[in-house]
Amino acid sequence: MSQIDVPEIDREDLEERGIGADKTFDKVLEASVGRRHFLRGSAATAAATAALTAPGIFLTGKEAQAATLPLTFTSVAETKADKVTVPAGYEAHTLIRWGDPLFPGMAPFDPTKQSPADQAKRFGFNCDMVAVFPERFGAPAKIGRLPYPSYIMCVNHEYTSGPNMFENYSASENEALTEIEAHGVSVVNARILNGRWSYDVTSPYNRRITGTTPMRVTGPAAGHDKLKTPADPTGTLVLGTFNNCAGGFTPWGTYLAAEENFDQYFANRSKITDAKVALDHTDYTVGSGASGRKWENYVPRFDCAKPEGVNEPYRFGWMVEIDPYDPTSMPKKRTALGRFKHEGATIALTRGSNKVTAYSGCDTVFEYVYKFVSSGTYNPANRAANMDLLDAGTLYAARFNADGTGVWLPLDLNDPVSGPLLAASTYPDGTRRFQTQADVLINSRRAGDAVGATPMDRPEDLEATVDADFYGNGKMFIILTNNSSRQATSSTANVTSGSRAGAGRAVPAKADAANPRGPNRTGHIIEVTETGNDHAAKTFTWRIFLLAGDPAAAATAADNISLNGASTFTGDRFGSPDNVTFDTSGNMWIATDGTPSNYPFNDGIYAMPLSVTPGQPVPVKRFLSVPAGAECCGPLLSPDNTTFFIAVQHPGEDVSGLFSNSQSKWPDGDYPRPSVVTIRRTDGGRIGS
Ligand code: FEO
Ligand code: CA
Ligand code: CA
Repeated sequence: MSQIDVPEIDREDLEERGIGADKTFDKVLEASVGRRHFLRGSAATAAATAALTAPGIFLTGKEAQAATLPLTFTSVAETKADKVTVPAGYEAHTLIRWGDPLFPGMAPFDPTKQSPADQAKRFGFNCDMVAVFPERFGAPAKIGRLPYPSYIMCVNHEYTSGPNMFENYSASENEALTEIEAHGVSVVNARILNGRWSYDVTSPYNRRITGTTPMRVTGPAAGHDKLKTPADPTGTLVLGTFNNCAGGFTPWGTYLAAEENFDQYFANRSKITDAKVALDHTDYTVGSGASGRKWENYVPRFDCAKPEGVNEPYRFGWMVEIDPYDPTSMPKKRTALGRFKHEGATIALTRGSNKVTAYSGCDTVFEYVYKFVSSGTYNPANRAANMDLLDAGTLYAARFNADGTGVWLPLDLNDPVSGPLLAASTYPDGTRRFQTQADVLINSRRAGDAVGATPMDRPEDLEATVDADFYGNGKMFIILTNNSSRQATSSTANVTSGSRAGAGRAVPAKADAANPRGPNRTGHIIEVTETGNDHAAKTFTWRIFLLAGDPAAAATAADNISLNGASTFTGDRFGSPDNVTFDTSGNMWIATDGTPSNYPFNDGIYAMPLSVTPGQPVPVKRFLSVPAGAECCGPLLSPDNTTFFIAVQHPGEDVSGLFSNSQSKWPDGDYPRPSVVTIRRTDGGRIGS
């Protein structure tokens, strides 16, 4: 068997694509948006410098929360319409669709002629997280910055569903290999001209990262025996990334793609002969028999029964860091952030110490909330010095005490309290599970068990309210999407399904202070305040911010949105909150995933102010609705808050067949295509207010 080949960087190809010494930002812009629309020469430099040094152009962080602007749009009605429905005065445009070419000279997409090589050069399937980076790296651009006319946009492609990609899907080899290339990340140059977004197929930044792109493993678990395979005896070089759900972006201008439900790609756990390896993979719910997609029939690394596949699941479940400014750079799997079903990783800096905190949830019922705090410190003046900050630091899991306090429990063998607890974790044969810190990171879930973290109702997005420079104010919001296995307060049952029961893990399923409803069909949101407003703190306080559901049906247990006798929100009913973005006016915008399982209308975006007095209901408004069968992903406001980006994922998914899909034919009326959509006000003003 051959070792993994890393392709040589083709400099000639890059030069042909325009990447070279003479490729200045000004020239790119001049070519793309014309002279009239861009500040040129010294003016451009001055603008970039101002963006680096000036305080936020708009209100940010604490200031924003002190002066929330009201949300003035008219809520959209509940709808099952097969389109993106937006409020009066707003318009939605499709920016890029599954199959759209990312490189010049390609034919329009023909879904009847799909192949792996072709898909590897086109926008992938089931878009999820969206981030935008100013085309020239000059400054962090979280929110509140000057508008740029040209951005490098990164988009995750979470997963594929063959029956929705092919008309007569049969799990053939061509279909399997095409699906592998439809995963990963698209990097594409997106530009706005006269209020309309488009992407530039000729941009040298365009890139596809797929299920076969070589990636470097870095940090404490790199080179660990469990990460070694016949194709990679070093345990440091992996092919591809899968199930990239949400992610994050860093002050130093890199993109973070999370590996979430990576287990679903692997088969035949029951045929593993090493009991410890089999148990490790059971901890991450790798399937005992055939996988749903049958990739193992064609690619041995997806078959745990084969030498190529037995360790392969250990090489997924990490956070992947990508430099969008260098299309030749190799993505890095940052093992210091732990291995679990990462929903994402969002960054907050602590002013003063310049420590970097990355918040990340494990999106499974009864799993944990985590954060990573860097050992090193962020240097605002030196991008290169920050590029490996995510390789060293401390990983914590959260414990939520009933009295509204909480503790970040270090998953660290050298910690005086956690160390002995981790050391006591054993395999059934009595050997220590965690011999080294790398072992702790490779099975972060068991490490969370060992230190007594609190099992949560599916932690999705964790986001701090940071300012334009990524400095936080100690506030962080946890979005818990739902957990129908959570039991009523009176029950003492242990988890019997949906989690790690197969691995012998039994956790009390009883509702608790931080997960107060059983069953929790519609999810909830927790507000965390870090001690000393320091994101690197080891303790915090917390409160329930909102219980999602239906304010008009508060009497039914599953929809009871009241806490201590008071309704937690008013306005538009919603469920299954997932990912969030904040505007510069002090509002949170939440995308939902799973509304139709509770209510007869589509998923969408909901907006609400953050500065609500505790005990008072949060007023919630429905901003938009996505097409039939889709979940709403991505939510992102452009740095100047005049464009709202969403990713419409899996339109029409509940119905098999591409052309025969009877649920959705969005966006073009022929067949459903996952796509990124931009929403703007018709007058070009700020979104929301
Ligand atoms: Fe892929 Fe956690 O939603
Ligand atoms: Ca998500
Ligand atoms: Ca979700």
